[in-house]
Amino acid sequence: MIAGHAAAQQGTAWTGVFTAIQAERGSTAYGQSCAGCHGVDLVATDPEAPGLAGFSFNIQWVGHTLAERFDRISTTMPIGAAGSLSEQVYLDIIAYILSFNGYPVGDTEMTPETDLAEIAITRVP
Ligand code: HEC
Repeated sequence: MIAGHAAAQQGTAWTGVFTAIQAERGSTAYGQSCAGCHGVDLVATDPEAPGLAGFSFNIQWVGHTLAERFDRISTTMPIGAAGSLSEQVYLDIIAYILSFNGYPVGDTEMTPETDLAEIAITRVP
């Protein structure tokens, strides 16, 4: 966890920040826009691309907020077409990646109105 950000964070990704339907939509969008490099099972197939599950997830996602991950992904991915997806689709893909890594579903979807800076990605609940 990044000190200094901690005080502002009210929740974690373990509180159910996306729905099952959102993660399912994200899975389809991921397959179309990300899997070509990051792999269908989130183990990268492009030697320059990191995996997005397990150890890779732990070092790239844990300790950040969802806002930081959203900004990073929506401004740099997919490589060659950065920013080409809608905000909602980037959020759906993030829901899928969280779901794949074991985070629980909840009752509400992440939308462009969700305060992602308040949601910390922690390794354990
Ligand atoms: C054409 C190949 C390609 C596609 C398609 C692609 N990526 Fe990447 N991605 C990369 C490469 C290469 C890197 C490592 C270099 C970099 O970070 O810019 C990377 C890095 C990343 C990272 C790590 C960044 C970090 O700070 O840890 C994430 C997360 C990511 N991609 C998510 C996605 C998502 C989500 C999509 C689909 C919307 C996607 N990528 C599509 C090639 C790709």
